[in-house]
Amino acid sequence: MSMIELSVNRRAVRISAEPRTNLADFVREKLDLTGTHLGCEHGVCGACTVLLDGVPARSCITYAVACEGAEVTTIEGLDDDGVTTELRAAFTREHALQCGYCTPGMLVSARDLVLRLPQADERLIRVGLSGNLCRCTGYVGIVRAVQSVIEARRARDIAPMPDGGRKILGPVGSGRSTYGGVDRAERAPPAADSQAPFEPADVVALIPDFIPATVLEQQFTVAHPPEQVFAMFGDIAAIAACLPGASLTAPPRPERVEGAIRVKIGPIAATFLGSARIERSASDMSGRIIGMGNDRRSRSSTQGEIRYRLVPIGQGTRVELSIGYTLTGMLAQVGRPGLVRDLAARLIAEFAGNLDRRLSGTSAADAAPAELNGMALVFGLLRARVVRWLGRSASDKDGAP
Ligand code: FES
Ligand code: FES
Repeated sequence: MSMIELSVNRRAVRISAEPRTNLADFVREKLDLTGTHLGCEHGVCGACTVLLDGVPARSCITYAVACEGAEVTTIEGLDDDGVTTELRAAFTREHALQCGYCTPGMLVSARDLVLRLPQADERLIRVGLSGNLCRCTGYVGIVRAVQSVIEARRARDIAPMPDGGRKILGPVGSGRSTYGGVDRAERAPPAADSQAPFEPADVVALIPDFIPATVLEQQFTVAHPPEQVFAMFGDIAAIAACLPGASLTAPPRPERVEGAIRVKIGPIAATFLGSARIERSASDMSGRIIGMGNDRRSRSSTQGEIRYRLVPIGQGTRVELSIGYTLTGMLAQVGRPGLVRDLAARLIAEFAGNLDRRLSGTSAADAAPAELNGMALVFGLLRARVVRWLGRSASDKDGAP
């Protein structure tokens, strides 16, 4: 097995794989990115086309180990891409797909054409797409769709991107010999054992910053001085023990933690496995934890960021939290923002109680449930709301304002 570090869909990935594993199998089987299809597995049909350092490449005849340091973009990574969005709409409008098997590879190649060739006519489009075979449509709808996007962009005066954004000369992927401006030979070897079996947590060994889709502001107070609370926040094992559903999967380091958090919302139970980067500033008693995790069963993934700041308040501490997250997959469909906000509030209340007990010298182990049970929390919230509502009704009857 070889440890491979590369970027897939703008996420840093570090996974071990057999040297013979091709890039298509790598993204499909190790990362669950099954939008990349395999047809001929001989570099002929184009179904497996992905972007390698921004250039369309056949992932079935590209070894994953040869992509060390490369930037790989699969069709999933083009979800928010403007040109691909236009192409998808045009494919639908022009009936450019039937079974859809060729479509991911076709879209990746078509996007490259649209970017590079603003004057492309039907003949040039047919030549440009000749490396992508479709057994269903007869190509007429595909060519019409691509041509309509090119014409629409020309009408909007959108300039072509020289060479489709290629940054390097030479064969596809040849820019991968450098990574972040550092030659591969000069890079420090990966810290992990290259013989280690694949661990999902390895997927996110490098954790980038991100812009969260949702940000929640929360705060709570504990009856202990900020210095004591800050020291406790540096003890990752203790903090994990206070967080309902959380557990560590590897010994924590001051700057990094690997762990799991179990969540159950209605019928969906998920265990997010992932890693987090830890930053702390003793001067203003603040910190930041940025993490990523995946649950394979529900095909959900999340990126999260917790910022905290400790403010002295009397003899105690006010803990100010800003929690940002982006959730995708099945859980995102059941976890409406209002529900997640309420759950987060409840979770933080439990965390604060456990933290307070721990700071007072009482173990939180008994208090922290083994699973963050969404339904239990929901019923708790409903109970609290009914009690509040009944209280309001009673005071209304008494003539209270
Ligand atoms: S599966 Fe790669 S070109 Fe056909
Ligand atoms: S739509 Fe079926 S192979 Fe192209």
